[in-house]
Amino acid sequence: MTKQLLFLVALALTFPFQFPTVALAQQNPVSADLALTPPMGWNTWNKFACNVSDELVRGMSDAMVKSGMKDAGYQYVVIDDCWQVSRDKNANIVADPQRFPNGIKTVADYVHSVGLKFGIYSDAGSKTCAGRPGGLGHEYQDALMYASWGVDYLKYDWCNTTTQDAKASYANIRAALDASGRAIVLSICEWGKNQPWLWGKEVGGNLWRTTGDIQDRWAGQQKWGDGTCCSNGMLDIVDQQVGIGSYAGPGHWNDPDMLEVGNGGMTTTEYRSHFTLWAILTAPLIAGNDLRSMTPEIRDILTNKEVIAVDQDPLGREGRRVWKDGDLEVWGKQMQDGSRAVILLNRGSSSQEITVTWEQMGYPNHLSAAVRDLWAHKDLGKFTGKFSAPVESHGVVMVTIRP
Ligand code: GLA
Repeated sequence: MTKQLLFLVALALTFPFQFPTVALAQQNPVSADLALTPPMGWNTWNKFACNVSDELVRGMSDAMVKSGMKDAGYQYVVIDDCWQVSRDKNANIVADPQRFPNGIKTVADYVHSVGLKFGIYSDAGSKTCAGRPGGLGHEYQDALMYASWGVDYLKYDWCNTTTQDAKASYANIRAALDASGRAIVLSICEWGKNQPWLWGKEVGGNLWRTTGDIQDRWAGQQKWGDGTCCSNGMLDIVDQQVGIGSYAGPGHWNDPDMLEVGNGGMTTTEYRSHFTLWAILTAPLIAGNDLRSMTPEIRDILTNKEVIAVDQDPLGREGRRVWKDGDLEVWGKQMQDGSRAVILLNRGSSSQEITVTWEQMGYPNHLSAAVRDLWAHKDLGKFTGKFSAPVESHGVVMVTIRP
């Protein structure tokens, strides 16, 4: 026996209970139980793009509390692209001194002081999508910096990654975040290019974008200014979720991009449909409107606790489309208590009656079940075998069916 081996045997005999502890710690990294339901919060990008600042983030944090968003479950306040301008002589990331005159930590401290959590954005490549310094080659250094600022959530983009391997790149930033010792949610933002639903969970991603960017319109893909394809209307995003629902679950979610609710490009009816579809998709609910000046109608959409409860159901089962005939669709989601959440969706231009059958929901026909309308906040009574309702153009009816 070599001296080293003898030493290890002696160590194991002297401290027999130390070894299981080490093994457990490896199985349970700091990030193990993050995002057990889809993250809810607010992000700067959809409304403010590069126009981010200390003042904006503080104002939005206050508004999140005052508007009732925090009470409804919204938690993360996330600064997206453009907060960073350079690296200093030690290669530490530097925040824009004009927009964040007191640095990022004081902003994070403020967000925490009102009972919310703080998120930030970077990119797996050499530069972010807006051309700011990316994280490539600085993952561990940046993770330590973020942890020292009190970052709780990192959105990590995919611009300027040339030949990088997506899975390896995101595994690397997750390892760096864990090594920082702080529990940080990892939001993988590679737009579904490399089918992140197949490997996102394995690399410790808590959510992964499934598509290119959403834009504030009901439907229709459009080419970007540089001729590349394509930004998505809300329904284009929805259609791209079909078939990938089973990859999501507690701690690891499909992310059909952030909400456009309240940004002005859709009608109130369409925004209600947008929010309702995100809820049945069990999607992260990251608002992207100006919370300081939203109308009561928009606030009522974003804070509908019954709809949010569908999104946040602890079973974490993603809803799916169970029936489609032209513009008419039925979506269903299995809930932890055995009930179903259902959406009747009318994509067409005139009002139509839509029916959900118990068979579509995996229930026997003879079952009597209580139906509740989650937008009218009304019990509609008991139904057997099916339920029908008129649905306005571009609208939804959302109900629960409870045997
Ligand atoms: C990409 C992302 C967006 C946003 C921008 C910022 O397009 O998909 O969500 O973060 O970059 O530049």
